[in-house]
Amino acid sequence: MKKATSLLCMMAFCAGSLRAQAPKPAPAEQAKMNTFVSQLMARMTIDEKIGQLNLVTGGEATTGEAVSNDVEGKIAKGQVGGIFSLTTPGRVRKAQQIAVTKSRLKIPLIFGQDVIHGYKTTFPIPLALAASWDMALVERTARVAANEASADGINWTFSPMVDIARDARWGRIAESCGEDTYLASQIARVMVKGYQGDDLKKNNTLMACVKHFALYGAAESGRDYNTTDMSLNRMYNEYLPPYKAAIDAGAGSVMASFNDINGVPATANKWLLTDLLRKQWGFTGFVTSDYTGVNELIEHGLGDLQRVSALSLKAGMEMDMVSEGYVKTLKKSLEEGKVSAADIDNACRLILEAKYKLGLFDDPYKYCSEKRAKTEILTPANIKFARDAAAQTFVLLKNQNKVLPLKKAGTIAVIGPLANTRANMPGTWSVNADLANTPSLLEGIKAVAGNKVTVLNSLGSNLTSDATLQKNATMFGRDIPRDERPEEVVINEAVATAQKADVVVAALGESSEMSGESSSRTDIGIPEVQKHLLAALLKTGKPVVLVLFAGRPMTIKWESENVPAILNVWFGGSQAANAIADVLFGDVNPSGKLAATFPQNIGQVPMYYSQKSTGRPLAPGTWFTKFRSGYLDVSNDPLYPFGYGLSYTTFSYGDVKLSANSFKPGQSITASVTVTNTGSVEGKEVVQLYTRDLVGSITRPVKELKGFQKISLKPGESKTVTFTISENDLKFYNADLQYVAEPGDFKIFIGPNSSDVKESQFALLGK
Ligand code: NOJ
Repeated sequence: MKKATSLLCMMAFCAGSLRAQAPKPAPAEQAKMNTFVSQLMARMTIDEKIGQLNLVTGGEATTGEAVSNDVEGKIAKGQVGGIFSLTTPGRVRKAQQIAVTKSRLKIPLIFGQDVIHGYKTTFPIPLALAASWDMALVERTARVAANEASADGINWTFSPMVDIARDARWGRIAESCGEDTYLASQIARVMVKGYQGDDLKKNNTLMACVKHFALYGAAESGRDYNTTDMSLNRMYNEYLPPYKAAIDAGAGSVMASFNDINGVPATANKWLLTDLLRKQWGFTGFVTSDYTGVNELIEHGLGDLQRVSALSLKAGMEMDMVSEGYVKTLKKSLEEGKVSAADIDNACRLILEAKYKLGLFDDPYKYCSEKRAKTEILTPANIKFARDAAAQTFVLLKNQNKVLPLKKAGTIAVIGPLANTRANMPGTWSVNADLANTPSLLEGIKAVAGNKVTVLNSLGSNLTSDATLQKNATMFGRDIPRDERPEEVVINEAVATAQKADVVVAALGESSEMSGESSSRTDIGIPEVQKHLLAALLKTGKPVVLVLFAGRPMTIKWESENVPAILNVWFGGSQAANAIADVLFGDVNPSGKLAATFPQNIGQVPMYYSQKSTGRPLAPGTWFTKFRSGYLDVSNDPLYPFGYGLSYTTFSYGDVKLSANSFKPGQSITASVTVTNTGSVEGKEVVQLYTRDLVGSITRPVKELKGFQKISLKPGESKTVTFTISENDLKFYNADLQYVAEPGDFKIFIGPNSSDVKESQFALLGK
């Protein structure tokens, strides 16, 4: 065994104080911008100012019923501030040209797009990227995306999405960083950095838009766009920190969420958008609504278009996406005294400032280079990175008898409705992905297996037996082949194929449009017809590897009990197929860890590791005890806990060693653990640190993630991972919303996931 080396993980606790101030530009630069914008605004009519608040769609990808019309005419009249979903240098240049040559004041447009997990080079869905626990990798995906999108005319992305999501029924959990506040906050920070770089004025950066502000992930019953109702305690301690982390990292804009929050929709929520965001957090960028967010306030029951537009503006919502409520009604509201000139001026100023920060007044065509579009998109380096990145996100859930990795020899049957489809690979919210040139899993396996392997294929089943459900779950061209013959005939055909093989790879699970926006599910298992296929394949007695496509934690209890190997591959972007094959054949050792808990069944949802104890907790290891908090029919355990994921090697953890058993405010201690690779191949491990505040003025979670470190170990190698803990890491919002650390005892846990941990204890002393 090699000597232990030491790693120091300094715990920059970015999920911490919600009171820190967002970064501000240097005073001289700020003054220059103020003068420029003031001089411009002095020349603007009220109509032109209102025009800047109008965001229209170019129509390439729409997420609602309203579509903007006569866009060119409106730009020429100065009635448009920005366009989203219009790409390529040619089209963007044409629209920009109208703005800067035909409109009276020649104010350039801002161009937005949902660049969510990559651009044309598509990376894994955000829930998968979170499972990499590799912040440098996540940052680089954002950097590559920014480079490609900006080469194609875009300068503003509606990302990062950092809604804490704990209800797996909610389809948009796929777009989130999962359930944990600390992990999501780290991701928020690095994604903003990746998009915005060190200088927004450069032509290869994008302005970030943190969304969906706020609490959208807590939609009741996991139904999209639904109501949110939450205590301030939970809001401040668990749901708000990731948005704040993005803002602290300098995100230039924020998107208001669709949901209402304790009775007031976010789009018109003054407490949220002004008191919290601007006054407490010091945010200086602009807020956009979500798609038709202003208009939807009518349906929420807040009044007619004029009233809801005035309410939104006064709440602190500057840009109106697609509703055209501002252009249609704000002037009337001004005349009637329902909004003030200062309200309009303030909103207009913030949008002009964003354009100034992007350097659009210096060069409105800076993102319109045909040459860049030809040479910087889908480059071999980007494609290679997409493949490497995807392989880091897969989570090995089970590997009995070392079924994996597969040998590059013999016959492999690749079976299932998701095996031979290109369109299903990139994942939800990949509007720019080149579906036709994305290899299918079958193609990826054939390419990586080499010429000593015979690869067979059979459909085996439809995605779902219900053709309408399959149609609704494969929208936007994400087609999956369908066979209308009787279910048994299609399954029998696959069984015959399996019988000719040495091993079966079953490509099953969700289609990519079974998660994402407006794709909530009340049954989060593998569709029944696919389960019938899986059971039939298992009956052949051949070893079966389930390659699980999923946009959410799924209920796969039966599968976990019956299938020898399960590799959860989410939706891995344009190179998913090759990356899956790399992992299946052991060219890459899997190292992903779940960023959201897999429940045993749907009744346990919402489920997350950082729960409160309750006054009647079940004793560890027990299932049901009368008058204790639990269920008659299922234990409180998850199927797979947060932070869980296996490797082709094994790791052992030594005991937690503390540098001291107590410390005072202003001091710190370290906690170390030695991790050893006890298997026979090199592998990566995510070492996770959790704490529990044992006595508090309010109830505290049973565990909270406070740090992690991804390390790589050769067979037999050991490394000592060290975390530093200071008072700041123990702070939380108390009942009066003061951000405090309370002296007392704390447990500390270190381990490979949130359940299997070694523990120790320390005390925070009084001053
Ligand atoms: C609606 C979605 O909620 C949001 O995430 C997205 O950015 C907008 N549509 C624009 O496409």
